[in-house]
Amino acid sequence: MPPLFLKSMRSTEGKMNVRFQVNGEPRTLAAYPMERLLDVLREQLHLKGTKEGCGEGECGACSVFIDGQIVNSCLVPVAQVEGASIKTIEGVASGEQLHAVQLAFIKCGGAQCGICTPGMVLAAVNLLERNPNPTEADIRNGLSGNLCRCTGYMKIFESVVHACRKQDDV
Ligand code: FES
Ligand code: FES
Repeated sequence: MPPLFLKSMRSTEGKMNVRFQVNGEPRTLAAYPMERLLDVLREQLHLKGTKEGCGEGECGACSVFIDGQIVNSCLVPVAQVEGASIKTIEGVASGEQLHAVQLAFIKCGGAQCGICTPGMVLAAVNLLERNPNPTEADIRNGLSGNLCRCTGYMKIFESVVHACRKQDDV
């Protein structure tokens, strides 16, 4: 068993200070350069809305926006986000006002266990920001990087269709 002081030296050895913004707030934290952004968000910043599904870049459960681009945070070493602006599912609502996509998921029953839901919502937000009037094929394509183990995808699809219609109402 190493002496306690050696253990604590080892635990901080190799860490770097990383500065970035999360949901509009500046953050500085110490992390190993290759730590996954997913883990830093969940464990250090306690933003548990970002989920881990596959851990291999296949399911989209860990999606976040980095400088406006949607990415799988399980594949991003935290060193790469130095100076970046990150938006997680916690930053999608405007204060108390949920995003139209979030409201649509509630109304249409788009969530079951909820593991894929933050990633699905972010994928839909990403789609609507780029294409406010998507066709059904555009919606299927926009969600195609996200896997759900619970549903037959219809409720999720209907939620996004509903969110599109609500946008038209505004
Ligand atoms: S957990 Fe990152 S893509 Fe599945
Ligand atoms: S709601 Fe459970 S994985 Fe999609």
